[in-house]
Amino acid sequence: MVAVNDPSSPSTPSPSTSGGTPGGSAVPEDGAWWRHAVVYQVYVRSFADGDGDGVGDLPGITSRLPHLRDLGVDALWITPFYTSPQRDHGYDVADYRDVDPLFGSLSDADDLLARAHELGLKVIVDLVPNHTSDRHPWFQAALAAGPGSPERARYMFVEGRGEDGDLPPNNWPSVFGGDAWTRVTEADGTPGQWYLHLFDSTQPDLNWRNPEVGDEFESVLRFWLDRGVDGFRVDVAHGLFKEEGLPDTELPDPDADGPASMVELAGLDEPMWDQPEVHEVYRRWHRVLADYDDSPRGRRMAVAESWARTAEAIARYVRPDELQQSFNFHWLSAAWSAEEFAEVVTETLPSLLPYGATPTWVLSNHDVVRHVTRYGGGELGLARGRAATLAMLGLPGSAYLYQGEELGLEQVEVAPEDRTDPSWFRTKDTAKPDIGRDGCRVPIPWGDEEPPYAFGPAAAGSQPWLPQPDGWAPLSVAAQTGAVGSTLEFYRRALAARRTFALTAGEEVEILDAGADVFAYRRGPLVCVLNAGSAPVGLPDGVGALVLSSGVDPTGTLAPDTAAWFLDD
Ligand code: GLC
Repeated sequence: MVAVNDPSSPSTPSPSTSGGTPGGSAVPEDGAWWRHAVVYQVYVRSFADGDGDGVGDLPGITSRLPHLRDLGVDALWITPFYTSPQRDHGYDVADYRDVDPLFGSLSDADDLLARAHELGLKVIVDLVPNHTSDRHPWFQAALAAGPGSPERARYMFVEGRGEDGDLPPNNWPSVFGGDAWTRVTEADGTPGQWYLHLFDSTQPDLNWRNPEVGDEFESVLRFWLDRGVDGFRVDVAHGLFKEEGLPDTELPDPDADGPASMVELAGLDEPMWDQPEVHEVYRRWHRVLADYDDSPRGRRMAVAESWARTAEAIARYVRPDELQQSFNFHWLSAAWSAEEFAEVVTETLPSLLPYGATPTWVLSNHDVVRHVTRYGGGELGLARGRAATLAMLGLPGSAYLYQGEELGLEQVEVAPEDRTDPSWFRTKDTAKPDIGRDGCRVPIPWGDEEPPYAFGPAAAGSQPWLPQPDGWAPLSVAAQTGAVGSTLEFYRRALAARRTFALTAGEEVEILDAGADVFAYRRGPLVCVLNAGSAPVGLPDGVGALVLSSGVDPTGTLAPDTAAWFLDD
């Protein structure tokens, strides 16, 4: 048996709760609302368009909050909506304390927070501390000020190698393809220093060894905390510090199968990732968040996007004096395999034991191919996707959903002329083009028979910023609402069922031996069985009454590509 939590740990929450109504946060008495929360990721450009310009925005999100309440999630995480030239769709921030006019205004952000709180939903915003936009005033000042200046010392400006400094300072690749270094032209017109950008060249990395950077981000955190946000999703949380001396790295095998994806590169154990100094930053942020513990609005949290390699490395971000959660991408990376699912669970849970933190689970986000497609696409992919979701929702801890997965959306094949993702442009002419992330970011269909499928008030037949495919009408929220067997109704039922036991089922999980192709576990009174094989399987002895299945309800046996929950009487 494995457990996520030492019951003697001081941070173990009391099982008693307040709240618990569908669509509202069920907050344990210690206020740690995130420990078992279901968080819905809103990709701001693609969720809902309030003004009809074809791009999602904050008023659009506010107008659709009732959908999230009815779905039964506890919180939403909104991707960056700050002032930005949108070279990486907001992950290139030019002003951390304002809203880009494309998405609305600060007062729209305040309205969104107020409405979400009224509906009992918490709001997590994205924080991008690894890099700024090249249009950020700091970077513009650094370019103007020249080598050796305090302005350059906020970024990673270095002399090049080679006789004339015309070779990059080291061999680091950008996560988005190509080199991680760009050379600037100095004010006198001569070729000058190089700056580091682990992502696009428009996203210069900050120098976190400069105390000014840490002070600035503490101030940014407080700016949004004072406005009432409930938490932060910390972008590239494992990347802030780079090994002293900037040594060369070991490059991924160029002959390995498949494209060098962001996941693959960002997961390597290299001098630019997961350096020990980064944890000092999160200790400081822990203290900042704790300053709000007694606020009438409730406690605040942060979740790290840390593509660290092992479960142990990921867990270091949630030590009791650091952040509250860390994404567990191992669940997302697992193949459709009972053995792999069991392995991820048995590796994840003990890694958190020393720290008293709960795990997180996620199947899709705005950076990866949607899981229905990863699992084979079509009816098969959808059946497996629903089954994996049910297995995920039964586990202790927090589950992160990505917008559109509740509709069963698949990855969209985006035509080359419609592509917008910098990682696609940086790799498209190479031997290993990145399939890009546009295909999981296509705007949500809310209703109607043709694009924009009620995404916004734009004219019928017009396309939003990424074109929606034909044939999405039956997948829209309106079409699936109330439709028996629809994926949306399945998610609603699963979230409602989860709510009735999630905070009381305990945090211990026992993996059951139910056959080679079966991933089965018991958690308190709940037994979850997932059949990843190709033939029906018998149910483990002693399972209780059926609560819910992801497909055809089992009668004695469970069909392939299906999961079911059973509860003891
Ligand atoms: C994170 C984001 C991704 C972004 C990158 C650079 O991985 O999830 O979308 O492109 O950081 O900020």
